[in-house]
Amino acid sequence: MQAAAIVLAAGEGTRMRSALPKVAHEVLGVPLVRWVIDAVRGAGVERIVTVVGHGAEAVCSLVGDTESVVQESQLGTGDAVRAASGALAGFEGPVVVVAGDVPLVRAQTIAALIDSFRAADAACTVLTAFIPDPTGYGRVIRDGAGLVTGIVEQKDLVPGQDAVGECNVGIYCFDARSLFDALAHITPANAQGEYYLTDVVALLHGQGRTVNAVVLTDVDESHGVNTRVQLASVGRILQRRINERHMLDGVTMTDPDLVWIGPSVTIARDVVIEPMTTISGATDIGEGAHIGPGTRIVDSTIGAGATVEQSIVREATIGETASVGPNAFLRPGTILGPGARAGSFVEVKNSTIGEGSKVPHLSYIGDATIGTGVNVGAGSITCNYDGRDKSRTVIGDGAFIGSDTMLVAPVEIGKGATTGAGSAITKDVPAGALGIGRAVQKNVEGWSDRRKAARDDE
Ligand code: UD1
Ligand code: CA
Repeated sequence: MQAAAIVLAAGEGTRMRSALPKVAHEVLGVPLVRWVIDAVRGAGVERIVTVVGHGAEAVCSLVGDTESVVQESQLGTGDAVRAASGALAGFEGPVVVVAGDVPLVRAQTIAALIDSFRAADAACTVLTAFIPDPTGYGRVIRDGAGLVTGIVEQKDLVPGQDAVGECNVGIYCFDARSLFDALAHITPANAQGEYYLTDVVALLHGQGRTVNAVVLTDVDESHGVNTRVQLASVGRILQRRINERHMLDGVTMTDPDLVWIGPSVTIARDVVIEPMTTISGATDIGEGAHIGPGTRIVDSTIGAGATVEQSIVREATIGETASVGPNAFLRPGTILGPGARAGSFVEVKNSTIGEGSKVPHLSYIGDATIGTGVNVGAGSITCNYDGRDKSRTVIGDGAFIGSDTMLVAPVEIGKGATTGAGSAITKDVPAGALGIGRAVQKNVEGWSDRRKAARDDE
């Protein structure tokens, strides 16, 4: 039987002091709850029910690939799991329950939890850890034979139990039927007046069912996020985990503490990443590319051997050996061909710049199609917006756009054509022609000398 999962994400997260629900806060560009869901999916669990409550709308928008159910008021973790019972009605088999605020848990750990549950033919398998400072965690109570008999919350500990060092991580695998049956019997008779999911453990043990535990070897995986201090510290751990993976795969990072890479970024070998660089979303970086320093890349493809320095790149495709920056801004829909260049202080949006074409300095290129081997002189821009409509500029292969050309769209420059520096081009320029649109220069002989003489007399 395939396992299902319930992700608990209804809490407010008061200690975050935020208008945003806790699980929507991001680490490396990914919301907390997504780290958890992706780990659960990575463990091979297809069917996931997310329990939402506080900020339900915001959370639902992040977990659209799961079923969501609403827990109307937050009466405790037991009540939260109960809220998912309708969605899983009739489901028999293992159900993983996991909090939405433990982004460090690995897919392999969840898979191992399910495996142990199956191997032990258990009613419940609890993930536990020996956490150096166990304050706040529920403690795992075992009998003489080492079987788990219950979990006691920190606030309900009785003398003697506080010496227990084994903590409940908050991740479990239950037999679905046994879980929902037991939940009907828990009460809020405890220090916090809540329905504790953890009470199910003692109930199952009391029924003579097997409850076992998997102990985490990497205690880091147990870290939950309750404050922004913890948000930063789990961020640091995830950053190191990801960067180490890339470095071991052949990526050079001159200072990995100053490089932030999202979990779905792929990087080929011999890429060099310089400090103060953030790479996130669905981004692929080709072999030998040189990225940074001071660069942000989101949802983009960077070709082999390309360089991107001190620039921002969003939803763009950069060809092999192309070069970007410093201080370029490539916006969505930018396609830079192989060997092309978008240089310093160049902004490009929704435009294709063909193979080997150069836009080296101080330009805005919007809604344009630029052929191959084109040179766009410094300061040239496409005037793509007339206050109401956006129009396209087309530049043919081998054209030469003189510096400071204003290309008033819609306009087309033919193959091999030239525009005069400083022109405002409002009409198409045929292939091979010169388009020039500026005031004719007039020289006034002696003017400067006369002015100087007049000023010297004042
Ligand atoms: C819980 C465990 C504790 C464990 C700890 C690990 C219980 C009773 N205790 O305590 O043994 O050591 O996690 O971090 O389960 N939630 C809801 N609805 C609710 C209450 C909570 O969805 O009504 C969600 C929260 O959003 C959160 C998760 O459940 O994602 C855990 O809740 P939280 O209140 O943080 O539990 P802890 O007190 O940390
Ligand atoms: Ca917690």
